[in-house]
Amino acid sequence: MANSNRAVTFQNPKDMRVESLDFPKLQMPNGRKAPHGVILRIVATNICGSDLHIYRGSFPVPQGMVMGHEMTGEVIELGPDVEFLSEGDLVSVPFNVACGRCRNCRARRTDVCETTNPKVACGAYGFNLGDWTGGQAEYLFVPYADFQLLRFPDRDQAMAKIRDLALLSDILPTAFHGLMEAGAKPGSTVYLAGAGPVGRCGAAAARLLGASCIIVGDYHKDRLDLMKKNGCETIDLSQDAALTDQIEAILGEPMVDCAVDYVGTEAHGIGREAEDMDPAYALNQVIDATRAGGATGVIGVYGPDPLAKSKAEQEGTYPIDFGKAWIKSPRIAAGQAPIMHYNRELMMAILWDRMPYLSAMLNTKVISLDDAPDAYATFDAGVSEKFIIDPHGLIAAA
Ligand SMILES: NC(=O)c1ccc[n+]([C@@H]2O[C@H](COP(=O)([O-])OP(=O)(O)OC[C@H]3O[C@@H](n4cnc5c(N)ncnc54)[C@H](O)[C@@H]3O)[C@@H](O)[C@H]2O)c1
Ligand SMILES: [Zn+2]
Ligand SMILES: [Zn+2]
Repeated sequence: MANSNRAVTFQNPKDMRVESLDFPKLQMPNGRKAPHGVILRIVATNICGSDLHIYRGSFPVPQGMVMGHEMTGEVIELGPDVEFLSEGDLVSVPFNVACGRCRNCRARRTDVCETTNPKVACGAYGFNLGDWTGGQAEYLFVPYADFQLLRFPDRDQAMAKIRDLALLSDILPTAFHGLMEAGAKPGSTVYLAGAGPVGRCGAAAARLLGASCIIVGDYHKDRLDLMKKNGCETIDLSQDAALTDQIEAILGEPMVDCAVDYVGTEAHGIGREAEDMDPAYALNQVIDATRAGGATGVIGVYGPDPLAKSKAEQEGTYPIDFGKAWIKSPRIAAGQAPIMHYNRELMMAILWDRMPYLSAMLNTKVISLDDAPDAYATFDAGVSEKFIIDPHGLIAAA
């Protein structure tokens, strides 16, 4: 058994490091024993746009915190109260830490678990949300394992599809949730703001759902090209034309049935304003682009942002164009995605080859733990890859 744990840690904005830490214990952040928990050997742990908020300094976390919330791993140690998992099981870890016992968990709302973070109803690994140690590491402690972990039915089959299955801990169910909140169904027209990994999963999920016209907006040419190659319409937001005009040029009408914000507060403006950060820009765009009676999902993160220009925005108050939206009877849903609500069905869709386009749309790239700090910088620059860290070389070996 290993006695240390190499992990990616946050030092300062733009400064991530790999450090050697103690091997995890079956123990809660407050020191209580966790007989319901397991230790995982990490097989895949991805870098996410949510990690970039920490990397850039817009989501403050303690110095030395272990990063990472998108983990897939092998069970190597079980607490005495774990009944339904065994050593050697390969599992996906939902990024929401959830107890399975509170009112919200019992209603399948694991995004707002009431007990895993004493400060606010929302626990997550590798954030300042309940002090849960992150999983960009060799090993990870997971509490409430029987409830939380999604076991893959067959290890060899899972290893053969691991690049796709690794997306189940966050971005695929998250992106799917955004579309559900926006009411997407077969034939829907959709506008997806952002062609980062989450927006690209949104486009893949819209295909799975049978959406008709799938339009993706962004500035990064490589990211948009990936979408175009995979059957989506694209809008280059650095062009100086109103979003609704660009949608009309594609669709014949200026608004879509469903629009989803896969951007968050680090949004930029359009055309001549594309150079400037404008935290509420993408949010207002998706509301504007949704037809009367349609719906909008907000997946991008909207917390207080110390990097924002105005004091109000630093405190998390954003200018929403509600007067213009109100007359359309808007339905707008936002928040963390409840991963456990969707991950099993999406796993089955992957295992039964219903999303053969997923890897191509995501452009996943497997890297070592030591490569992770550089990958943060590359990802921050807007490359079109989704980085999956392979801390033990198990993906490379498979
Ligand atoms: N709600 C949740 O549970 C949840 C889970 C995972 C990720 N997220 C959030 O989803 C967002 C996207 O994640 P990602 O990994 O794809 O990040 P990313 O930073 O790689 O992608 C964001 C993309 O948005 C683009 N963009 C900026 N302004 C825009 C605008 N006005 N319109 C359209 N596109 C614009 C950027 O150019 C970039 O390509 C982040 O805010 C992340 O924190 C939320
Ligand atoms: Zn994530
Ligand atoms: Zn709970």
